[in-house]
Amino acid sequence: MPLVKIEGVSRQYKSGQVKVDALKEIDLTVETGDFVSIMGPSGSGKSTLLNIIGGLDRPSAGVYELAGKRVEKLSDGKLADIRNQFIGFVFQGFHLLPNLDAQANVELPLIYRGIGRAERRRRSTAALEAVGLGDRRHHTPSQLSGGEQQRVAIARSLVGEPKMILADEPTGALDSRTGEKIMNIFHKLNTEQGLTIVQVTHEEAIAQHGQRIVRVLDGRIENEEILEKGINGEMLEVNG
Ligand SMILES: Nc1ncnc2c1ncn2[C@@H]1O[C@H](COP(=O)(O)OP(=O)(O)OP(=O)(O)O)[C@@H](O)[C@H]1O
Ligand SMILES: [Mg+2]
Repeated sequence: MPLVKIEGVSRQYKSGQVKVDALKEIDLTVETGDFVSIMGPSGSGKSTLLNIIGGLDRPSAGVYELAGKRVEKLSDGKLADIRNQFIGFVFQGFHLLPNLDAQANVELPLIYRGIGRAERRRRSTAALEAVGLGDRRHHTPSQLSGGEQQRVAIARSLVGEPKMILADEPTGALDSRTGEKIMNIFHKLNTEQGLTIVQVTHEEAIAQHGQRIVRVLDGRIENEEILEKGINGEMLEVNG
């Protein structure tokens, strides 16, 4: 069973008299353990697609099965439960609370789940260590670099032990070297822990870290490429 199965999904936004077809009959399947990069011009529907995959938004038409459950039929509460259980989100702007230290930011999703203090400490420490920030636990966001803030945000997305990380422009606010570090973390999570990753990016070099590139144009999937490691470790384009 694929983790994500999207068939004929459209999303239309209406604001006043204006209708926008942000997604038009999209088909997309993501298997457990995939690492998918979504690319496309501004306004092409990438964030809309990611938000639907993450259950933050619902299709206007079509079918979406997340881990075998039909999302369109779930109540808001059930959808939130599935989201909490399966998905960690990472955003371009990090979205950390400025007056909490790194550890407290990472613990937030666990507080919402009613997990006790000692268990929160244990899990948030492990998540911060997994992104190489074990020694920055008590720094507030303003005391951290952009790349470190994004790593805290990744730790926060991991702490609930999700099956899938959804990242919207995770390196968009970072220089290319720092962006590469974030990709190394994603790569490790994907290969060592089997975590499924779907990321949106404008940058070709960042997209190349995935196993697959899905190109979106004007609300439709234009094409898909599968990328595989060559014998010397360089990426080879297999099709697309
Ligand atoms: N809440 C909304 N209400 C109305 N229209 C919206 C809404 N959200 C997005 N849109 C429209 O839907 C289209 C797709 O938007 P989306 O945010 O998915 O694009 P994107 O590919 O993520 O772009 P970017 O690269 O700039 O982030 C755009 O034309 C946008 O104006
Ligand atoms: Mg976007």
